Amino acid sequence: MEKKFKPGGAFQLAIGILLAFSWIPAAGKDEKALYSPEELEKINELSPVLKVPKDRTNAYADNEKAAALGKSLFFDKRLSGAGDVSCATCHDPSHGWRDGKALPKVFMDPRMPGAQSAGLGKRKVPTLWNLGYNRWFFWDGRMDSMWSQALGPFENPKEMQGGSRLQHAHVIYGDKDLRKQYEGLFGKLPDLSDTKRFPLRGCPMPDDPKGAFNSAWQSMSKEDQDSINRVYSNLGKSIAAFERKIVSRHSKFDTYAEGLLENKPEKLAAFTDHEKNGLKLFVGKAKCEACHSGPNFTDNSFHNLRVPSKNEDMGRFAGIDQVKENLFNTAGPFSDDPAQGKQRLEGLKAKPVNRGQLKTPGLRNIDTLGPYMHQGQMATLRDVVKYYSTLEGAVPLKGPDEHLLVATHLGDAEIDDLVSFLRTLTDESATASLIPAELAKK
Ligand code: HEC
Ligand code: HEC
Repeated sequence: MEKKFKPGGAFQLAIGILLAFSWIPAAGKDEKALYSPEELEKINELSPVLKVPKDRTNAYADNEKAAALGKSLFFDKRLSGAGDVSCATCHDPSHGWRDGKALPKVFMDPRMPGAQSAGLGKRKVPTLWNLGYNRWFFWDGRMDSMWSQALGPFENPKEMQGGSRLQHAHVIYGDKDLRKQYEGLFGKLPDLSDTKRFPLRGCPMPDDPKGAFNSAWQSMSKEDQDSINRVYSNLGKSIAAFERKIVSRHSKFDTYAEGLLENKPEKLAAFTDHEKNGLKLFVGKAKCEACHSGPNFTDNSFHNLRVPSKNEDMGRFAGIDQVKENLFNTAGPFSDDPAQGKQRLEGLKAKPVNRGQLKTPGLRNIDTLGPYMHQGQMATLRDVVKYYSTLEGAVPLKGPDEHLLVATHLGDAEIDDLVSFLRTLTDESATASLIPAELAKK
């Protein structure tokens, strides 16, 4: 087709070019020219990390006193079945709120048969950095809030030595300080001194209906069960209030991104040429940003990267049913805004494509968080980037394809640059103020 001559065309183009460049003051002009307009737009979305969003399903999410209680609980080993394990055992603040291992040690009650040879867990311990921005929790998203998430490990017989909600309620009840803190926030605890009415240990155990924990739980009245469940959910809400403070936001990359926005040479100087090229690859040719998007470098969604693993993980496929059935989900009776919870869970249905999908982890502080992937399959960031580049060894999918995962064939120097960029996402400064004084001294 013949192109019509439009007299205004050249003029419009000239104005367009003028407009595009006129707002760039001299200092940052060269710097912005390193990136295409699309790349710049994506870079702008990766920083800054704003305030942790409100969670209306947890009325205590931003309550300082609840966070203080949550901090005590997080480090308290008495909340485990045999008194040896706390949340911090696996989510160690001095190891990036992880255990530094590929797979965690299993912590069963040492009095249980098989406890000594229990081996290792099936999934890597994730970090707790910037989780307040997450929509789903656990690798398979089987929890829909941070407060309900905390209730999982508490009673997982392989994580906290067979702790149980009755034991937790008794620990709070029997500790003068904790009890005062708890009652100041949530009102009076039930009278737990009658241990026939409120046994010392127990929780619902549908997989072990005849076991001691389930029998103790079933011996209680529905009303007493409800009041213990209320206490239990309040402990989760306090821990969430604490975990919301584990935020990383002042990395070298954030300084550079500010520099780009404000055209400040002293901030732009934060990045080397290799790091700049790595950033350009991250939002461009290497296609990382397709999934690791936004200030926390996650799309809050699930993908199957086909990473070779020891045992098949059903991932999101199983997680969807679990979150819907959970008594403590955000749509349930312990949520402070069930209507919002219903919206979160609406239309959720497990489909074949969900098989083996895992949550996209955020990448803040990633340099300190190896080994990488859900079973710690890859030792270094270089191994991770090489895998994405070639997809060598990728396991064929049983279900539909993952369209966002394509081999991008990066050269050796490009791989190095991308790794250099990932290393600029580190800022662990928040940790110091979140460790209890008595532990910090050690
Ligand atoms: C024995 C080690 C261990 C202990 C103890 C432990 N966790 Fe975890 N934690 C894990 C593992 C492993 C996962 C990932 C499991 C999965 O996804 O199925 C996890 C996942 C999490 C997550 C989800 C992170 C994400 O990215 O979605 C949070 C939050 C968390 N744990 C908090 C806690 C809290 C709070 C406690 C104490 C009540 C605790 N953990 C105790 C090992 C542990
Ligand atoms: C299709 C979506 C997708 C793309 C594209 C993608 N990622 Fe990922 N990334 C994920 C998911 C999902 C995981 C967790 C997978 C697992 O553990 O098996 C992950 C894991 C990682 C990890 C390990 C995190 C940890 O805590 O162990 C790093 C590092 C990483 N990605 C960096 C990158 C880089 C760099 C690129 C670009 C070269 C990239 N990703 C491209 C979705 C993606």
